[in-house]
Amino acid sequence: MAQLHISKHPLVKHKLTALRDKNTDFRSFRELMRELAMLICYEATLDLQLSPKTVQTPMGEAQGYKAAEIIGLVPILRAGLGMVEGVLQLLPSVQVWHIGMYRDEHTLRPVQYYNRLPENTSVQICLILDPMLATGGSAVATVDILKKAHVPRIKYMGLIAAPEGVERLSTAHPDVPIYVAELDERLNEVGFIIPGLGDAGDRQFGT
Ligand code: PRP
Repeated sequence: MAQLHISKHPLVKHKLTALRDKNTDFRSFRELMRELAMLICYEATLDLQLSPKTVQTPMGEAQGYKAAEIIGLVPILRAGLGMVEGVLQLLPSVQVWHIGMYRDEHTLRPVQYYNRLPENTSVQICLILDPMLATGGSAVATVDILKKAHVPRIKYMGLIAAPEGVERLSTAHPDVPIYVAELDERLNEVGFIIPGLGDAGDRQFGT
């Protein structure tokens, strides 16, 4: 699983533990998701392309850089919404494309109900945002959509992954690197990640 990146950052471990805690209220839960999304985004963007840029400092000329790639954020509704704000704080000039998908609770297959991709896109890299990679069905379906839209580079950014989801995503799309805070033990019989954090959508939105 060469494409799986699990964060080693102490702050990620600290905040993820608080996020998992069933006593964390939904206001704190959303704040933690925002912060964790920023930290994972830092790791997922280490290889972004740069172009040279010269600026004048008060002391003279400095040779510097600017981010050269046009980036699209693709949160998978609902739970992925909680990761958008943190990433936007780090990457201010991005496009946000929403994809609505829920998992049928009997078949565990993803059901798409919304897709707000532009018809023609110039983005060079898309970051898929979804905190939970469980069976991997939603992530694979989202990458399928983005590849049909001819997005040249795609990365998956999540918080917790199950081995089953990593296997499915990396088998279907070996070119898509996966960045997460933690790899958990397994899925249970109804497709929830164990130990996980419960339902990330419900915990963010108080439902
Ligand atoms: C959760 C999660 C992922 C999906 C992961 O969403 O946010 O999108 O399940 O499962 P998978 O890897 O097995 O496809 P959910 O269906 O609960 O919808 P919600 O975000 O609207 O709550």
